[in-house]
Amino acid sequence: MKNALGAVQSALVLGGASDIAQATLRRLVPQGCRRVVLAARHPDELTDDVDALKEAGAANVTTVAFDALDTESHAALVDACFAGGDIDLVLIAFGVLGEQKALDDDPEAAADLARANYVGVVSSGLAAAGCMRKQGHGTIVVMSSVAGERVRKANFVYGSTKAAADAFAQGLGDSLAGSGVRVMVVRPGFVHTKMTAGMEAAPFATDPEAVADAIVNGLASGKEVVWVPPALRWVMTAFRHLPRPVWRRVSSSR
Ligand SMILES: NC(=O)c1ccc[n+]([C@@H]2O[C@H](COP(=O)([O-])OP(=O)(O)OC[C@H]3O[C@@H](n4cnc5c(N)ncnc54)[C@H](OP(=O)(O)O)[C@@H]3O)[C@@H](O)[C@H]2O)c1
Repeated sequence: MKNALGAVQSALVLGGASDIAQATLRRLVPQGCRRVVLAARHPDELTDDVDALKEAGAANVTTVAFDALDTESHAALVDACFAGGDIDLVLIAFGVLGEQKALDDDPEAAADLARANYVGVVSSGLAAAGCMRKQGHGTIVVMSSVAGERVRKANFVYGSTKAAADAFAQGLGDSLAGSGVRVMVVRPGFVHTKMTAGMEAAPFATDPEAVADAIVNGLASGKEVVWVPPALRWVMTAFRHLPRPVWRRVSSSR
């Protein structure tokens, strides 16, 4: 249960090694988040992150093996995390960007990317929603992307998975209205993280700390959608309405 100031006291992060997720926890822990569960593909590699969160004030930081592709395991894994006590926040932070040119020639790899970025969000998101419904409160944060707002040919497999995950998250939020459980969709532009290392930054590029601030502020104010930076909301609103031939030119100009 959130504390008297409305701050998150417990969090489960699916994709616990994500740079954006770690930056978000670095904000939440000093504000009163005492229990953190990091669910990640390689939990043994998170020792430094666990130590840092404990040093920042978290009393209970645990790790658990989680693979977004192993959808059959999600319900039991999420149940087990909630069995350890109420969870105020589930942050769905895993994701794979991929390289569009390589995916063009590798349909199986593209399908795996879609399974992780979309199917994995559906199964873990529904599992989290079920547990939160039972406890009667909580927020699920889903990491979407502006890449899903208007899909670019340069990363259309990734963009299409974000469009689908975003639509799922909105529908899930609507289905949970009145249950005490909320869903917040986060749509960053280009963020300097492991995912984008070595890539040329896009306009409006930002960093994990800025995304973390937007997430924490969004949680505090009960937002349903958060754009990072906020100006991208208006940029994407314009882009959404461009005719296809114009969009093809605009979206390939960088
Ligand atoms: N960076 C950006 O520009 C940007 C922009 C908009 C949205 N986003 C979204 O924000 C979220 C966080 O990304 P980030 O920027 O923090 O990148 P990141 O540091 O690379 O984090 C992504 C995480 O996803 C995990 N992951 C990938 N496949 C997985 C799987 N099958 N099972 C479990 N975990 C898996 C990775 O785990 P490993 O550590 O094991 O590889 C990694 O820790 C993602 O959903 C991303 O799509 C990012």
